Amino acid sequence: MAQATASGNLVSASRWWHRSTIYQIYPRSFADSNGDGIGDIDGIISKLEYLKALGIEIIWLSPIYASPMDDNGYDISNYQEIAPEFGTLADFNRLIAEAKSRGIGIVLDLVVNHTSDEHPWFIEARKSIDNPYRDFYIWRKPAEDGGSPNTLTSSFGGPAWTLDLRTGEYYLHLFSRRQPDLNWENAKVRAKIYQMMNWWLERGIAGFRMDVIDYIGKQVDQSIITDGPHLHDYLQEMHRETFGSRDVLTIGETWSATPGSALLYSGADRHELSMVFQFEHVTQQWDEIYGKWRSRPFDLIKLKSVLSKWQYALAEDGWNSLFWGNHDLPRAVSKYGDARGYPVESAKMLATVLHLLKGTPFVYQGEEIGMTNAPFAKIEQYRDIETLNMHRLHLDAGLSPEDFIKGANENGRDNARTPMQWTPEANAGFTTGIPWIEVNENYTVINAERAVSDEHSIWNHYPKLIALRKEHAVIVYGRYQSYLDQHPDVFTYTRTLDRKRLAVVANFSAKTISLDLPGELQIAGRCLISNYRPCDRLPDKVDLQPYEAFAILAVLD
Ligand code: GLC
Ligand code: CA
Repeated sequence: MAQATASGNLVSASRWWHRSTIYQIYPRSFADSNGDGIGDIDGIISKLEYLKALGIEIIWLSPIYASPMDDNGYDISNYQEIAPEFGTLADFNRLIAEAKSRGIGIVLDLVVNHTSDEHPWFIEARKSIDNPYRDFYIWRKPAEDGGSPNTLTSSFGGPAWTLDLRTGEYYLHLFSRRQPDLNWENAKVRAKIYQMMNWWLERGIAGFRMDVIDYIGKQVDQSIITDGPHLHDYLQEMHRETFGSRDVLTIGETWSATPGSALLYSGADRHELSMVFQFEHVTQQWDEIYGKWRSRPFDLIKLKSVLSKWQYALAEDGWNSLFWGNHDLPRAVSKYGDARGYPVESAKMLATVLHLLKGTPFVYQGEEIGMTNAPFAKIEQYRDIETLNMHRLHLDAGLSPEDFIKGANENGRDNARTPMQWTPEANAGFTTGIPWIEVNENYTVINAERAVSDEHSIWNHYPKLIALRKEHAVIVYGRYQSYLDQHPDVFTYTRTLDRKRLAVVANFSAKTISLDLPGELQIAGRCLISNYRPCDRLPDKVDLQPYEAFAILAVLD
């Protein structure tokens, strides 16, 4: 549904999550309450006041379910139990209640493309060809030569098929061999999943983030993984059978999304999801051959063109998610900013540019204090299954160990998974024990305790941005327009709603830049936010300091 405003702008029907900011917690690395070196639910509860002070209204929790932790919980062995290292169901109920009393909702990670190989369904399924659970998974006979049924590969490297000796057939796993893919064509599988989702919804959760949800319509025999023929039917069925009658938030993780498919997932009349995570702004920075494992210089012109494309495409229907980082991606300030030269200025600049776009912003744990990539020097320091597998495969293929570590330091998943840095004390105050992965050594300088008490810190920039979105409809619904698209160092755009215009100007470089402004940006108004003082004005020319960013709000006449 869309409604026209006085000036003819289309404003999608308003939803609460249009004005909210979401904080992602990776539970293993957030806060450890009992000294076993692993973050847990009690640890999260102890930090709810910290999140409330930021202005967070929704927390997305990476998986907390029972799991052998082959992929840190993205391999689930029981969907209705909490992993003992994270706590119990009673702890989880307390988390929901404690969060709710602070106006915070909890969004759970829904990992239903695959289970763990220790899930009872898979344990049954592999017993025999006629087991009632056999068809919960995807089995194929060997190829004529006895090898894999086809050439599909796993995202973590190697073939996507593993031969199960007992029955002599291969099962599909698009991730590790310990993450067998569920067969979504089986209506019984879908019914079980919906039942489980309803069980969580009844516990009062605020929604789901759906892991690789673009995979569930796959047609393996045609090697079709994403955007399969029944993908959207399944999502509409899920909507009908589970969350459709409730006012919850749903976000699909869809690495394959294009603006066209995003409109299918998140269009207001589609009855599928609230929004999707698209990754084009991430992947277009990768190497054509080695993907993310070979470092490449950052290209702002490309980044702007992708972000703008998405802003324009979802201007009137659908909804964007806005993020720089998550548990699979490098740290924002290391990737897009200047963690060495201008850590504070560049982190505030990145937050400003992102939060003033149209969409719902996500903050990944530690981003709000400017946590940086992990400076690991040896492969032994890494814990991530993907990094370890790729290390083996890329070295076999001829990449040098040094080049691999360089790539992993830049884009590997463990960059985002080092423990949250709370204090300057031992282990950054994350644990009193031995952390499951090393703490980044910069914690004596970069930590929450210090950030909260310093009024000029990155941390203190975030509540301002989060509050602005609640206050100004132009930030939520304003029409987006970018300028100076070919400028290699400056990102500038306006948002316009009725007579209000917001102008955002950001320098993505360590250079001082003298900029001639296009007419649309030459507006007299008040400064809403800035990372330098005094906040710049917008005559026809501005001199931008390194990584300067500011936003001016004007009333047009
Ligand atoms: C998603 C998750 C990632 C996980 C994978 C398999 O991409 O974000 O962490 O490894 O799916 O579940
Ligand atoms: Ca613990």
